Amino acid sequence: MGLSLAYKVLKDHLIEGELKQGQEICIKVDQTLTQDSTGTMVYLQLEAMGVEGVKTDLSVAYIDHNTLQQGFENADDHEFIKTVAAKYGIVYSKPGNGICHQLQLENFGKPGSTLLGSDSHTPTGGGLGMISIGAGGLDVAVAMATGKYFMKVPKVINVKLSGKLSPWVSAKDIILHVLRELSVKGGVGKIVEYTGEGVKSLSVTDRATITNMGAELGATTSIFPSDSNTLEYLKLQGREGDWKEISADADATYDEVLEIDLSTLEPLVAQPHSPDNVRPVKEIINLKVDQISIGSCTNSSYSDLMKVARILKGKKVHPDVSLSIAPGSSAILKTLAENGALADMIAAGARILECACGPCIGMGQAPKTDAISLRTFNRNFFGRSGTESAQVYLVSPEVAAASALKGYLEDPRILDVELDIQMPEKFERNDSLFVYPPADRKSVEVVMGPNIKPFPVNKALGEKLEGKVVLKVEDNITTDHIMPSNASLLPYRSNIPHLANFSFSTVDKEFPQRCKDNGGGFIVGGDNYGQGSSREHAALAPLYLGIKAVITKSFARIHKANLINSGIIPLEFADASDYEKIGFMDDVEIGDLLSALPTGKVMLNDKTSGMSIELKFEGSERDIEILRRGGYLNYAKSNLI
Ligand code: F3S
Repeated sequence: MGLSLAYKVLKDHLIEGELKQGQEICIKVDQTLTQDSTGTMVYLQLEAMGVEGVKTDLSVAYIDHNTLQQGFENADDHEFIKTVAAKYGIVYSKPGNGICHQLQLENFGKPGSTLLGSDSHTPTGGGLGMISIGAGGLDVAVAMATGKYFMKVPKVINVKLSGKLSPWVSAKDIILHVLRELSVKGGVGKIVEYTGEGVKSLSVTDRATITNMGAELGATTSIFPSDSNTLEYLKLQGREGDWKEISADADATYDEVLEIDLSTLEPLVAQPHSPDNVRPVKEIINLKVDQISIGSCTNSSYSDLMKVARILKGKKVHPDVSLSIAPGSSAILKTLAENGALADMIAAGARILECACGPCIGMGQAPKTDAISLRTFNRNFFGRSGTESAQVYLVSPEVAAASALKGYLEDPRILDVELDIQMPEKFERNDSLFVYPPADRKSVEVVMGPNIKPFPVNKALGEKLEGKVVLKVEDNITTDHIMPSNASLLPYRSNIPHLANFSFSTVDKEFPQRCKDNGGGFIVGGDNYGQGSSREHAALAPLYLGIKAVITKSFARIHKANLINSGIIPLEFADASDYEKIGFMDDVEIGDLLSALPTGKVMLNDKTSGMSIELKFEGSERDIEILRRGGYLNYAKSNLI
């Protein structure tokens, strides 16, 4: 039986286990990436493992999230990461160089290889034919220390593309359509693999936009074949030697198939506050717009920004609109500056931001109160923009630029502009913003400023857990709810004691103090708990506050792994309707844990109501061992290194 491309790449990297759906396997990790917001914690953990250097072919530490330096905190974190990178043999990308995923794609990604990143949009690399997975920080630290990553073999969904996009319809509209079809939960436990004739009409950066936002499906990753378009892209980057052709076997079988005729798609928009709340742009074109932000790891490629420049050229941004543009990399910015496109954007009234995540992570550009903000980004969760009353809509660069001129959400198909973008001969790699590790790493001293505080480590698991339900929340709780990442908190990503005071602050401000008053306790949640980013702070802050277990109807993949890695037990209701039976501040108890976890069936005794509720634990033997030892760091030190 033929193999999907996803399974072929996994098979090439298999270290342990059998490539059978649902089985745990260990794969060789070729490359890792971190960004600064999760990176400080990753490198503290790497240091705690006591290894001499990384075991991957390539590891890169990017600074792209917390780039504002208003106080010493971010600067301290950057210096720590720079010195750790030099000590352990990691390439360091300076602030201003660009967004991790765009830079990895341009400079390092290789078809058929594996990449593990401490950022949920690491699947961007799938546009180059990589198995490129976002993971929690500890998983990435272990991958650097050992070259290994443990995962359950996912199912594979085949998205079969036929036809060709109509003018003014773009890759963003393809992934918004997939989100409309499959929802933000549709990819959980699955890899999304794109095949079909329609693939040929998409460039690598189009494909990367699609695999990037596959994260919003909850998918493990997404992947495209590597073909002649991939070779063209790598040639442009001066890396044709990294190319190889790879695709699924002709007789590959898949668990699900979604067919899309690209010629039937039209410009789409994801409405607040979820990326799958998708409608055609033409249905809401009377929406008055206050702010437009173009950029992010989803839509900041050269061709995205050239299209924007072409639309803006010789025109003026509407007086009521604030338009900001952040190129994905310094190489793109340099090329736009050299070919005049940057001047066209500035002349039209755009604000040019540095090459970084910027507004996508709430680093500046918070919209005004009650604003309508159009963004080419990948997430529009409540509060993520930094303004809780703002309404964020996700759109393609073409829709964003057309709307910037009109002042209202606009269907770009009305524009009379020629959009045939010619690629330059070659991109000049901007090596001046990369720092490569020195030959003599032994003498490097790691610098840790006062903003960097020790991270919490759990204790070995006992037989019984007891405490109060200190928080009960609804469905689709995001990591932004659990650990908000606004501009005032981002500088404290290496300071868990400070951050913990803001855990769930947009949901229940009393939560941290309640935990402190009750010695921690339990959280009860609904479906898809922990969706969103890979940040392990959403597990470490609750760990610091004494949370012992989180009980939900279902979990998002990376957050569940982060809970296990922190030694917090993720449990699900055997019968989802039992969610109603546990009350806020109920006294609960779980006994016989060590013997119950391997059976997958765990009984919870609600002492307040007197009811007994069946829960399930879904995890591997290794997960149980990690929980037994009080987290992955304790486990890795004694089992893997
Ligand atoms: Fe950065 Fe936003 Fe992507 S924070 S990595 S641009 S999702």
